[in-house]
Amino acid sequence: MLKKSFPQMYRLLQEEERRQNLTLDLIPSENIVSADVREALGSVFTNKYSEGYPHKRYYPGNAICDEVEILGQALARKVFGLDESWHINMQPYSGSPANIAALMALAEFGDTIMGMRLDQGGHLTHGHAVNFSGRAFNVVSYGVNGRGFIDYGEVERLAREHQPKVIICGATAYSRTIDFKRFGAIAKSVHAYLLADVSHIAGLVASGDHPSPFPYADVVMTTTHKTLRGPRGGLLLCRDALKAQIDKAVFPGVQGGPHNNETFAKAVALKEATTARFKTYQHHVVRNAAALAQALMQNNFAIVSGGTDTHLFLLDLRGTGITGTQAEQRLERAGIIANRNTVPGDTSPFYPSGVRMGTPALTTRGMKERAMKQVAELITDAIRERRPVAAIRNDVEALCRKFSL
Ligand SMILES: Cc1ncc(COP(=O)(O)O)c(C=O)c1O
Repeated sequence: MLKKSFPQMYRLLQEEERRQNLTLDLIPSENIVSADVREALGSVFTNKYSEGYPHKRYYPGNAICDEVEILGQALARKVFGLDESWHINMQPYSGSPANIAALMALAEFGDTIMGMRLDQGGHLTHGHAVNFSGRAFNVVSYGVNGRGFIDYGEVERLAREHQPKVIICGATAYSRTIDFKRFGAIAKSVHAYLLADVSHIAGLVASGDHPSPFPYADVVMTTTHKTLRGPRGGLLLCRDALKAQIDKAVFPGVQGGPHNNETFAKAVALKEATTARFKTYQHHVVRNAAALAQALMQNNFAIVSGGTDTHLFLLDLRGTGITGTQAEQRLERAGIIANRNTVPGDTSPFYPSGVRMGTPALTTRGMKERAMKQVAELITDAIRERRPVAAIRNDVEALCRKFSL
């Protein structure tokens, strides 16, 4: 036991457990996994090497790992309502390698790809200059319009002009429903592949709280640790015709041996995602985000696009005299964890004017709309320094104890 073998490390574990229990986690890409997922992650599957794919491994002793991977694929199909015409690669270590592998499978280095700009809500792997995706490919980026909604007219115009090989849709800081149908039509009209990155909204897609990208996309990528509430990891789902390309791009293209404990834990999380309880949870995540955004707007905070359709939203602090960084720090001192973020129109990525907030973790704790009103008051107290920070922190901890992990 860690407690006996390495007491100092055990102390770190205890401190992190305490921190998670006594703070309000509003980071929309985080969640709290079940004890079953943790058991799977900490299991003996971590000991095994399995380069290759089921029944085609470069190592012996993999009959059970094969079974795990095949089971995970079947569960992923069930969760997203797919038939056998969709292939699932269970092995991506995380979202970033999954996106790199997808791009490698669908385009050659130097080809043109399109993605949403980071400061408009896209992810680094959607073509940012500092990322592999931006260095290996010729990137054309799109963004949002003045109201904070994806500018589909711009997407269409840029696609016609630049004839990309791949269009990436999906985002990391975008609170509105993504029109996958429209993206699909645009991609089709220029003979581009559509790569839908549903990392943030995968749980909402599974529960029907967000429209599905599957009828329109060639490849769908998701992380497994956000709304899907599984272990850190990724999944690549593709039409069967792309199976060989995708599998080859993941291994040996980008990765080596799969992390079998992670694959096993993904399968456990996917099993959980097939339940009615999981669907109800996602409904509450969306309702809670709407309630929290509403309550903050009532307290005179501006929200990008004026609200949310999903699990997250962006506070827009421009004109308040408080930067995103200051707000993040004030919140953290009060025990509220939310990250600073650029809002559309920000000129400097170093001084963002926004804070990103989401409800997946709070909802996992059991909070409903009434608690969201309380959370909104605590956020307002902290950002506007309406009360002494110790008093706010006290109330935060009391709320956390009420909805204990
Ligand atoms: C939309 C999107 N894609 C990809 C990723 C990358 O995932 P990871 O951090 O697991 O590499 C993220 C993570 O935040 C994301 O939000």
